[in-house]
Amino acid sequence: MKQIKIVGNKTLKGEIKISGAKNSAVALIPAAILSDQVIIENVPNISDVNALDDILNYLGAEIYKEEDKLTINAKKVNNKPITEEFSNMLRASYYFMGALLARFKKAEMYFPGGCKIGARPIDIHLMGFEKLGAKIENEGNKYTITANKLIGTEIDLPFPSVGATINILMAATKAEGVTIIKNAAMEPEIGNLVDLLIDMGAKIEGKDTNTLTITGVKKLSGGKVKVIPDRIEAGTYILAGVMNGDNLVISNMEPNHLGSLLGILEQIGANITVGKNQVIASRSLNLKPIDIVTDVYPGFPTDLQQPITSLLIMANGISHIKETIYENRFQNVKYLDEMGADIEINGDTITINGPSKLIGKVVTTSDLRAGAALILAALSAEGETTIKEVKYVLRGYGNIVKKLTNVGAEICLEDV
Ligand code: EPU
Repeated sequence: MKQIKIVGNKTLKGEIKISGAKNSAVALIPAAILSDQVIIENVPNISDVNALDDILNYLGAEIYKEEDKLTINAKKVNNKPITEEFSNMLRASYYFMGALLARFKKAEMYFPGGCKIGARPIDIHLMGFEKLGAKIENEGNKYTITANKLIGTEIDLPFPSVGATINILMAATKAEGVTIIKNAAMEPEIGNLVDLLIDMGAKIEGKDTNTLTITGVKKLSGGKVKVIPDRIEAGTYILAGVMNGDNLVISNMEPNHLGSLLGILEQIGANITVGKNQVIASRSLNLKPIDIVTDVYPGFPTDLQQPITSLLIMANGISHIKETIYENRFQNVKYLDEMGADIEINGDTITINGPSKLIGKVVTTSDLRAGAALILAALSAEGETTIKEVKYVLRGYGNIVKKLTNVGAEICLEDV
């Protein structure tokens, strides 16, 4: 088991460079199946990317890695069923459904893995494939999706699901005729995928809007893209700066993708300076409490709900956070309580009564962002915190120990 130890209360000073976005990279890599040779730059060094590389290798793709650049040659890909073990490795394994369906008119795999933060059904993805003309057979956890041909149509999503938008978009690139995805998710990571698909020769209109119009083409080829900066990684380190920084510079990021977080930080009186591609954050005293409701983009991201909880423990007064996207995304709360926070859960809302002083403890990570929240708490706690099961954190925060050590944190990763 991998664990992280942190001795808290150190000032964070210097610069943290943000890596490519996990949730972009995990869609761009399976999309390589749609083309012959794809180049993806600024790929983050995270275990979810390694898992996708393993699945691509299993399918017969050739992958060349040069630092943060991936060249994927998918010419020789065979359409093999994706095993239960591979499907379970991560949530984004489900992007092979849309990609294989587009290329071979058949995809076989199991229910995807990923952090256990809710039931996370895939009914909207499947509804989209069916509307395009595919037939779905489901036996236990196994899904077989086949189509004689995919035919473009109008698909109105009942909820703007990120995963369903991406999967249907990929399948529609090679459908006959025009597909219109209405109520599409607008997360910037989808725009990043649209750029790659267009570079491969796909015909897509409506990038970054809630209506995507895709005119199917027979063949896609080539394709080069740079992964956009990870807005959730950036948000996490900005929070670290507001909690413990002395002019901590978070660079290589896109502040426009974090409008709702930056707006909230300004409202509560956080000491931040927003630049063109960076944010400078310093330890902020006398923070005001606030009420936050998570929402789809451009609303407050659920992926920062757990991290910002750790900051609001420092605010003077009562804050509430309502989680509207997932039913089970409060698994950090129990440990924050043990570390000294005055915090409770009522249904979909947590109440934080600040300020509280945190004390280092032994805590356990249950999911990626719970882990990030506990790391933020540990960085500002008195004494040493041990965070167990950090494999979840390594799914989405590339080189986290190095990045934090470079700016003055006392942090180490242990294999026990
Ligand atoms: N949903 C359904 N049916 C579906 C699809 C989604 O009911 O067919 C529900 C989900 O259960 C959930 C909500 O809709 O309650 C949102 O799900 P969505 O499909 O938008 O999320 P996702 O594609 O599973 C991606 C990210 C998540 C991020 C969400 C929301 C990836 C691999 N994952 O998940 O990232 O929280 O979008 O922004 O891109 C993370 O990075 O920590 C993470 C969990």
